[in-house]
Amino acid sequence: MRKINIGLLGCGTVGTGVAKMLIENKNLISSRVGADLILRRVADIDVKRDRGLTFDDGVLITDAQQVVDDPEIDIIIEMIGGEGIARELILRAIEHGKPVVTANKALLASQGDVIFKAAAEKGIDLAFEASVGGCMPIIKALRESLVGNHIKSMTGILNGTCNYILSKISDEKSSFASALAEAQANGFAETDPTLDVGGFDTAHKLAILACLAYGTGMNFKDIYTEGISRITPLDIEYSSQFGYKIKLLAISKDHGDAIEARVHPTMIPFDNLLSNVNGSLNAITISGDAVGDILLYGHGAGMMPTASAVISDTVDISRNILSGVNSRIPLLAYQMDHIRHIPLMPLDEILTHYYVRFSALDQPGVLSKIAGILGNYGISIKTVHQKGRKTSGSVPIVMLTHLSKEADVRKALAEITALDIVGDAPVLIRIEDEDG
Ligand code: HSE
Repeated sequence: MRKINIGLLGCGTVGTGVAKMLIENKNLISSRVGADLILRRVADIDVKRDRGLTFDDGVLITDAQQVVDDPEIDIIIEMIGGEGIARELILRAIEHGKPVVTANKALLASQGDVIFKAAAEKGIDLAFEASVGGCMPIIKALRESLVGNHIKSMTGILNGTCNYILSKISDEKSSFASALAEAQANGFAETDPTLDVGGFDTAHKLAILACLAYGTGMNFKDIYTEGISRITPLDIEYSSQFGYKIKLLAISKDHGDAIEARVHPTMIPFDNLLSNVNGSLNAITISGDAVGDILLYGHGAGMMPTASAVISDTVDISRNILSGVNSRIPLLAYQMDHIRHIPLMPLDEILTHYYVRFSALDQPGVLSKIAGILGNYGISIKTVHQKGRKTSGSVPIVMLTHLSKEADVRKALAEITALDIVGDAPVLIRIEDEDG
């Protein structure tokens, strides 16, 4: 049987899962590919750690560049992550004419324009299924399965760490800080959790999906991104009383000449399937003009789920090698010369529903002042709740709005915050609800 040699760069958690799958599922994979996928070289700075795997002598080395430069290697799998050495190694592999598999969403979202251009110019396959949603075949769905559709919108829970933390706050009334500490203790969050809890990891993933769905260039830097660190048990409790769950969502909508793309904590109705995606799981709803809505659900991170996506890409590329073809499927779902810069709609322009919690004095006329300012900006109130009663000090006043424009809401809130009857800055959470 023909042999295809694999070079694996980085043997941390996911890299180890990839190696494990290539070794332990070797026969299964061979029977599906029609060739043996041989793990020829593995590069990692730590060659001593017990990974529970036995590599043949000389397979595990420290020099990643040696792996990329090895003429015997047919496919490079980059599992190092980050935007430094990983970028250099991927570009070097492309330069050598070697197809690359990567899960590196931060790199693709930030520097994808350079990397995809280099791969396209060389006619090299670059596959990245594991960069978004772990095991969920979302890249394949957009690049292949849904190619006949105009993608109208995508709404996803794409960060397991945030979903785990929000589920903890919701189920156990934990504070954000203690839910994060627990996530870190259980290995769900990095020691520096900024990329996850700040929403940036989700924005990286949304930037990649938007390219594939709409044929635009990478626009990660323009995506409005808000993390989950200010979500409190109190707002989760109120949202629940209104029939909503709070999730960190990646939202994108096609407006033809502009794309709406944003990442922020969002209230969604209990009957939205995404509201039942809990713990570290991911899910995404894609809406296409032919298919309607489809939902993918699964593990967005973790050793074996992510390795499964990497192996899927590796098998696709191996099949191309066996057929003597490459670039059969355009890297970003569209032919390169059809990719254009589609601007993102400014956040101020978006129309959505809002939850606003004010902290205000419990006195006659307070509500009418707040409502009056909202009315002046054309913001229609759907529901008002005043929680509790106090003769002195502030009480929470919670309002839900009908569809409103972000710019109007922000201006109104600035004016309301300046009133001396209003305490701290209001809490604002956007709502995705077709009803209302
Ligand atoms: N940090 C990511 C998450 C891992 O929590 O989902 C996978 O991208």
